Amino acid sequence: MNLKGKHIILGITGGIAAYKSATLIRLLVKAGAEVQVVATAAALEFIRPVTLSALTGKPVISEFFTANTGEWHSHVDIGLWADAMVIAPATACTLAKMATGVADNMLVTTYLSAKAPVFVAPAMDLDMMAHPTTTRNLAMLAADGVHVIEPASGELASHLVGRGRMEEPEKIVEVLDAFFGKGKTMQGKRILLTAGPTIERIDPVRYIGNFSSGKMGYAIAEEAARRGAEVILVSGPTSLSVSHPGITKVDVESGREMYEACLKHFPQCDIAIMAAAVADYTPAEPRDKKIKREHEDVESIRLVKNPDIAAALGREKTSEQKLIGFALETDSAIDNGREKLSRKNLDAIVVNSLADAGAGFGTDTNKISIISADPSQDITTYPLKSKDAVAADILDYIETL
Ligand code: C5P
Repeated sequence: MNLKGKHIILGITGGIAAYKSATLIRLLVKAGAEVQVVATAAALEFIRPVTLSALTGKPVISEFFTANTGEWHSHVDIGLWADAMVIAPATACTLAKMATGVADNMLVTTYLSAKAPVFVAPAMDLDMMAHPTTTRNLAMLAADGVHVIEPASGELASHLVGRGRMEEPEKIVEVLDAFFGKGKTMQGKRILLTAGPTIERIDPVRYIGNFSSGKMGYAIAEEAARRGAEVILVSGPTSLSVSHPGITKVDVESGREMYEACLKHFPQCDIAIMAAAVADYTPAEPRDKKIKREHEDVESIRLVKNPDIAAALGREKTSEQKLIGFALETDSAIDNGREKLSRKNLDAIVVNSLADAGAGFGTDTNKISIISADPSQDITTYPLKSKDAVAADILDYIETL
């Protein structure tokens, strides 16, 4: 199920096991992957391109150019398109070319351009497999980060019995599925996340706002979704967008709207992370017409308190739910953080101080400490990092709770 929507380059080389490529494609497509075949000329002696393209729904790429049309195939574009490249079967010859960068065909050229993880499933006769050259080339590839799907032992096409049979397509799909499933440490968790500023209307053209960019909250949303969580991102107005399909964005404007959205979603969530900068006050009587300069009556705007969302969720929270707050402070950050932690009944609070260079609103970096409600954990401090790296630290921490 981890292969759904994944782009896989299937490299096929000239070994008898190429006949199993059809089954491999079938299984990958069934698992939801999109497959692009890049075959060597020798591979196409063993299996017809029409079989492969019928199964993938894409023309087989073998040469740099299509002979009759002159169409050029970009190995760079294919390499960048891929989430993984799998070479199965991988002959001794292709393994050697890959190990040493002999890019004299489309397949090895694509390999050198691919940024995605690469897997090889060697297939050859037992003596070729056992040859020190092959062993050395595989060790070189492994050192370069290539994942080797070890061949099985059994009867080979030569009728000899030994090690060199390409691993079965079912097993190759299992390896890929497990690879993409790795790191899904928040699978099955539902997270409520607030982010960005809130804006509180004074009249149809003016509001009270703050400098929150939403970057920290959005970075947490993306990282949590990447870890497999289902994220409900309740966001005030920002210029940011989300890309992961695991994130459902709920757009709100005011603190009151954010409060209502959070109360609605919190009961279905395991974790709530309050990263928004909610306005503490809102105009008591927002005007529905623009206030004119000549209206001398508006010398002051009466404000009323906004509901404290974190504190409200702190009262609703069950023993199964975790609630994490943020405290952005200009002074006495840790003491203020501790006070908010207990007053709002949080499980942990992420503290950052505007006094630290590179921390706070609008920047791409942040420097945080996390205080736990559990006195045995107390306080963890982190160095200045990118907001993406800070998001990972925060989620690592939450995973320990
Ligand atoms: O009290 P203070 O605003 O500093 O608390 C910050 C924490 O409380 C943050 O996690 C913020 O998102 C949350 N908060 C809230 N609703 C408010 C005010 C703050 O959820 N009205």
